[in-house]
Amino acid sequence: MGERQEVSRGDRAYGIAPDAPAWTRSVENPYLRGYHAPTIHETTAVDLQVDGELPRDLYGAYVRNGPNSIYQPANLYHWFDGDGMVHGVYFDDGKASYRSRFVRTEALAAESVAGRSSLPGIMGPFDTSADPYLKDTANTDVVFHDGALLALWYMCGEPYRLDPRTLDTVGVADFGGRRKTSVSAHPKVDPRTGELVYFTLGDEAPFMRYGVVSREGELVHEIPIDLPGPRSPHDLTITERYSILHDFPFFHDVEILRRHGYRVAKFHPDLPSRFGVLPRRGDNADVRWFEFEPGYVLHMVNAWEDGDWIVMDGCFQPDPTIRRRKEEGELASMLGYLRIRAHLRRWRMNLRTGETSEEQLDDQNVEFCLPDTELYGAPSRYSYHQLLPVEPYTVEFNALVKYDHRDGSSVRHDYGEGWLGSEAPFARRVGSTAEDDGYVVEIVTDAAALQSQCWVYHAQDIAAGPIARVRLPARVPSGFHAKWIPGDQLWDSPAPVRTDQ
Ligand SMILES: [Fe+2]
Repeated sequence: MGERQEVSRGDRAYGIAPDAPAWTRSVENPYLRGYHAPTIHETTAVDLQVDGELPRDLYGAYVRNGPNSIYQPANLYHWFDGDGMVHGVYFDDGKASYRSRFVRTEALAAESVAGRSSLPGIMGPFDTSADPYLKDTANTDVVFHDGALLALWYMCGEPYRLDPRTLDTVGVADFGGRRKTSVSAHPKVDPRTGELVYFTLGDEAPFMRYGVVSREGELVHEIPIDLPGPRSPHDLTITERYSILHDFPFFHDVEILRRHGYRVAKFHPDLPSRFGVLPRRGDNADVRWFEFEPGYVLHMVNAWEDGDWIVMDGCFQPDPTIRRRKEEGELASMLGYLRIRAHLRRWRMNLRTGETSEEQLDDQNVEFCLPDTELYGAPSRYSYHQLLPVEPYTVEFNALVKYDHRDGSSVRHDYGEGWLGSEAPFARRVGSTAEDDGYVVEIVTDAAALQSQCWVYHAQDIAAGPIARVRLPARVPSGFHAKWIPGDQLWDSPAPVRTDQ
């Protein structure tokens, strides 16, 4: 268990960001201020200034998605509403370059013509008879598959394809013309087969669908999954042969949604958490559901097979109840929802006997976790997390935590007063010989000066702090998910063909 005090800086000032859209100044919302504020600038810069020395065997790209609202929503603003923008920091031969580009979504294109927002953001109210009834921003996740980056939305939307070298949107993945549904954030790419394994959700039965896309981008498997009702899982995991789907007792009431137009999530502690295990190309009837303590998981680290057992590690929230503070008025739901309390946990499921076990591995408040993604589905010992304050005002990432999953021990690097991080993927060193033989890369922002940098750590010595700090030419707003794209995969595959013109 962690022995050190949590870092908490809840009294931080949230000032106006000079590079934010003008409309944000007249809207009182902490997610429109300071390092959370959206930016409307797309940037390209090469040969960036570096403090320290970039290793020459760091070859590839750090890419990160996040929200940037160009137009003011007609309804109450939520941090999750912003138009997707992908930031890329490219490393080659000891040099770094940066670019940022909006995801050219259908909604953004329509709003650019209209000059105003067109669809409500996630706070509602919604007219659920409209299709779509809320805005797909593609702002949540970014995944490299079939030679392109997929920008994905957590509410399930279109999988927008981006050229990984330019970050230009080149179209929408139609999975060889066979895709009939939306796709959630957090599909997994199997590094062995190149398959993309995904799910999507709905408010009508079937409440979940599950699919597999080949390395070449063709849909090869797609099935409905029986759930007791509309649910809100956010992630899935894969092993070499299986996929693990989620059903948590934290979900919205679809009757309230239909009658009043609001998605209101509620925790049901009388119901279990359930994980459904099925063969990679199995059917709905093949799904075996295993029950565990009630709670919620935003993000899993990884899963793998160990004999008859499935082992799965992730960031578990034992009580996902929205912590509303009355004095925060109309923002109380949003602010409360984003005050995460999660710890690292291990679940085990025996496919032969049906036995289960679950174990808390540590007590630090951590989320936004990544293993070496080249090990998705295979045993992994290390993962890299963001440390959150226990009682934050808004979402803040205060430290990088590296876990050793063999005993739950960890080392960490506190960013220092005023510096806030982002999801931090592992980048294998060219010629790597051990699981943590490489680097960890992340974007950090000085919340007072509103200046961003990209920090590079030796993964085997996180506590020593970054070995190189790349000065970025623009502020990078707080955001969601990041990945490392190895240089050989990034540059050796042909540029994706445009399908949007
Ligand atoms: Fe996520």
